[in-house]
Amino acid sequence: MHDDNMITIVGSGKVGSSIALQAGMREIDGEILLIDIIKGLPQGEAMDINHTLAEQGRDTIVRGSNEYADMQGSDIVVIVAGVGRKPGMTRMDLLNTNAGIVRDVARKVGEYAKGSIVVTVTNPLDPMTYITLKATDFKPNRVMGMGNLLDLSRFRSFIADELKVSRRSIQALVIGEHGENMLPLVRYSSIAGIPLTQLISNEKAKELVEKTRKVAAEVIALKGATIYAPANAVVEMLDAISNDRRVVMPVCAYTDGKYGVNDICIGVPAVIGREGIEEIIEVELNDEERTIFENGVNAVREAIRSLKL
Ligand code: NAI
Repeated sequence: MHDDNMITIVGSGKVGSSIALQAGMREIDGEILLIDIIKGLPQGEAMDINHTLAEQGRDTIVRGSNEYADMQGSDIVVIVAGVGRKPGMTRMDLLNTNAGIVRDVARKVGEYAKGSIVVTVTNPLDPMTYITLKATDFKPNRVMGMGNLLDLSRFRSFIADELKVSRRSIQALVIGEHGENMLPLVRYSSIAGIPLTQLISNEKAKELVEKTRKVAAEVIALKGATIYAPANAVVEMLDAISNDRRVVMPVCAYTDGKYGVNDICIGVPAVIGREGIEEIIEVELNDEERTIFENGVNAVREAIRSLKL
């Protein structure tokens, strides 16, 4: 195999197993370890995925385990353990259940995978990323969450549909809370460099933003969970970290005063590479955008406060 690097995925359910499959198909790293508390599940997923990879001639080895200690030596750990939302629920409805799970898992990561970079996926994403940061006690650049990159893939698909152009031509940005106050930034989106604002009306732009905010709930109502698109977004982050690509993408980060925000984690654009969050990029927000961003900050802050960490 091309490298000795290892990615651990804690939580081998729908999204975790899909991350392993997609990362293996792209040979992001030499080894992927799936961990879960359910006996047999990660082992069975590993076998099924390995058989796929073998037929495809991919050399990433996938293993399954019920022991957190097996994550020792991981370069990257993905935390995707916890319950998902049911139809009609918001991400925040999962707060109390998942906070306990993520805290336990993150403590194990702090114990067994000290040198790793952590990507949290469990919802509600922004509070869970903050819990991960505190419970691992890692430096803020080594802990990030995946939320806005998925929001962005949805925004991108709506823009492409609307303008009837290839999805490849679209650059877009979504920041803020991965939740009710997410902020798709129309002003910072373009088609081959042409500002989106020159190509669609304000009303149409608002419609696309609203669809982007609501579409996850629609998928969950139809099929019970979102799986492939979140897994794909996580794998993009794994690729950026593992291959030190310095890709600019929105991630949930500890902002440390940037955007005027202290002591929470929220979605912001950042340069992602070998050291994790290499740099947070601050973009100027107008009054309307700033209000939505701050509503998100307040919702996340309130959620964290309610947990009495
Ligand atoms: P799932 O129910 O299919 O899988 C979750 C897995 O976590 C289960 O196999 C369960 O046994 C395991 N688990 C629970 N506690 C554990 C622990 N302490 N240690 C190890 N494993 C443990 O759920 P699914 O659909 O895979 O979603 C997982 C999480 O990801 C949910 O919280 C969901 O809301 C979130 N999610 C986040 C997205 C994002 O954009 N950030 C997108 C999609 C899902």
